[in-house]
Amino acid sequence: KEKNDTEIKIQLTAVLALATLISAFGSSFQYGYNVAVVNSPAPFMQQFYNKTYTDRYNEPMGQNLLTLLWSVSVSMYPLGGFFGSLMVAPLVNKLGRKGTLLFNNVFSIVPAIMMGVSEISKSYEIIIVARFIVGICAGLSSNVVPMYLGELAPKNLRGAIGIVPQLFITVGILAAQVMGIRNILGNSTGWTIMLGLTGIPAAMELILLPFFPESPRYTLIQKGDEKGSRKALQRLRGWEDVDAEVEEMHLEDQSEQAEGRLSVFSLLSQRSLRWQLVSIIIMNMGQQLSGVNAIYYYADSIYGSAGVNQNDVQYVTVGTGAVNVFMTIAAVFIVESSGRRLLLLLGFGICCGACVLLTVALNFQENVSWMPYVSIACVIIYVIGHAIGPSPIPNVMTTEMFRQSARPAAFMVGGSVHWISNFTVGLVFPFMESGLGPYSFIIFSAICLVTLIYIWMVVPETKSKTFLEVSLMFAKRNKAEIKVGDMDLSLKDSKESLEGSEKLSTF
Ligand SMILES: *[C@@H]1O[C@H](CO)[C@@H](O)[C@H](O)[C@H]1NC(C)=O
Repeated sequence: KEKNDTEIKIQLTAVLALATLISAFGSSFQYGYNVAVVNSPAPFMQQFYNKTYTDRYNEPMGQNLLTLLWSVSVSMYPLGGFFGSLMVAPLVNKLGRKGTLLFNNVFSIVPAIMMGVSEISKSYEIIIVARFIVGICAGLSSNVVPMYLGELAPKNLRGAIGIVPQLFITVGILAAQVMGIRNILGNSTGWTIMLGLTGIPAAMELILLPFFPESPRYTLIQKGDEKGSRKALQRLRGWEDVDAEVEEMHLEDQSEQAEGRLSVFSLLSQRSLRWQLVSIIIMNMGQQLSGVNAIYYYADSIYGSAGVNQNDVQYVTVGTGAVNVFMTIAAVFIVESSGRRLLLLLGFGICCGACVLLTVALNFQENVSWMPYVSIACVIIYVIGHAIGPSPIPNVMTTEMFRQSARPAAFMVGGSVHWISNFTVGLVFPFMESGLGPYSFIIFSAICLVTLIYIWMVVPETKSKTFLEVSLMFAKRNKAEIKVGDMDLSLKDSKESLEGSEKLSTF
């Protein structure tokens, strides 16, 4: 066993590195790109909505209808994400991991063309429908890329490779913010191209990914094709002798089958997992309802109302995206070394404080000339606070609070709550902003505070705890007896084997 471990612990082959980059660029990058793509061109797209409406009905569009149509256009994306995430399980089993990623490009290339021709065909409905479809693409990507890469990577590289999709999401956000600079594509003629560009990474993935192997684990276990699985492994590892790893996959499969798989319904009815599940739901709601995506969807409008000079807004937005990329890299090291609980408390605390301060700054911007700088600082501090805890940790904790048999169901619940909350913020924020003005951020700070208090009172530290230890910490609250016989004490092993593959994924 020892010999196998050192044997497996070798290199990053070109095949593995390229498969990682192509799938992360083709799928995760796109996911981030489409989060931020509607921010900068918003005024020009709204003009187009208004003009189209005026041409059709011979009267200008009312402000309320415009706000509604715009927030629907923005939030169809996370709604599509919700439906996409429900399609993951059937698709990955039927088409395979790589197969799903390839098929998923349909959900990107078709809407890219739709958005590209929306202006010529004088229809904003096309944009709304296209945002929904490209959201399906994001919902699939956000689950399938980590799964595919987790199954390609050797154990010792899983953690490192697991970060790559997350990093590409933030780089995608940054790329959309850079493209949105007025002199590049964020203007009245460039916005259709800007929306359509999402088809390019998809087309590249469609052309290049077929040359790379399907997940060896899927090939062996779901397809029962041992020869194909060996061949894939040989290419990925760069050597002939893959017996040990094939054997290991067989063993892992057997122990998974022995453990069985909990459905979402049976997870909901398990008393001994009740508060773990409530915690996952609250953490995912807190992550999204604290308004992080409001910042990416509507950054320019937030900076605009904070009194930042119109011409500077675009560069400040790009700066926010760059801080996000940097902090995502930093978070990887912080999350691994410090406790989860501390980072969650710290992160939500920072976000809460930043929102309160932002409210104060927005209130005084008329009277004090340097207040816009305080507002910029608040948004950047908020992004930093979110990146160290609320963004990455809920998924890490889902991995650590549930044993393997319950984990897919727990991720299903967490993911659904995530997308629905994301959808709610996208839809409601413009109305909040126009109704409450500077006080809209008080709502976000209250949500951060409530989440913080919940975590403080209920959520234990899960770092380097076994599943059994976590259950014991929750047992009193669950009012459920822990029967040690039920819990496999050797779970720590199987837990570690999965770590990394599902670990880091923000948003
Ligand atoms: C729509 O355009 C008209 C004329 O260009 C303008 O007067 C009106 O304010 C616009 N409506 C909105 C909601 O911006």
